[in-house]
Amino acid sequence: MQIYLDSASLEDVKAAHDLGILDGVTTNPTLIAKERVDYTRRLAEICAVCKGPVSAEVIATEFAGMMREGEAHAKIAPNIVVKLPSTVEGLKACKAMSDKGIRTNLTLCFQALQALMVAKAGAFLVSPFIGRLDDVGEDGMELIRTIRKVYDNYGMKTKVLAASIRHTNHLLHCAIAGADVATCPLKVIQECMKHPLTDQGIERFLADYKKAFG
Ligand code: E4P
Repeated sequence: MQIYLDSASLEDVKAAHDLGILDGVTTNPTLIAKERVDYTRRLAEICAVCKGPVSAEVIATEFAGMMREGEAHAKIAPNIVVKLPSTVEGLKACKAMSDKGIRTNLTLCFQALQALMVAKAGAFLVSPFIGRLDDVGEDGMELIRTIRKVYDNYGMKTKVLAASIRHTNHLLHCAIAGADVATCPLKVIQECMKHPLTDQGIERFLADYKKAFG
């Protein structure tokens, strides 16, 4: 499973890149608003660090605006993937951009039929939001399993990018469900390498070594 960082913080991107396991980055309007920097400039900075797919989301909600913004984002760097909402207008823009060779990430996917349609329109990635479904009492992971099944039934090439990941248990179950990619905050990536028994084990090894050799 590929791991993307879900952040618009350059510091986070550099930290995740330094771990050597970063496959891509996703951003969204909320994440860029937190940074209070120019979106285009920040995307260029992220693309200079991470050579994998970097998702850049459009603000427009209608076809023409999505095309305008998406084409501008795509000019920033060759690894930009244009992030579009999983709406009727987003579907149209997805098809038009795919026809022009621009890769897309169809975001805010909350039902498998959205994933089926955007795959037909040539989406490079689809982003089902696990955490936000869990928040409203649904089972976000079930959506990952269903989309995986639908895509496998028809050999659809769109990658399932599990998004809205809140903790390591989400990440583990995405891998079990066969998500192609999971995008998560830096903290979740770091948490994957933490276990109290690992820390205790290191302490004991060091104490034993010190006792024997000083
Ligand atoms: C994905 O591309 C989104 O940016 C992100 O995962 C949303 O996560 P949230 O529901 O924690 O805001």
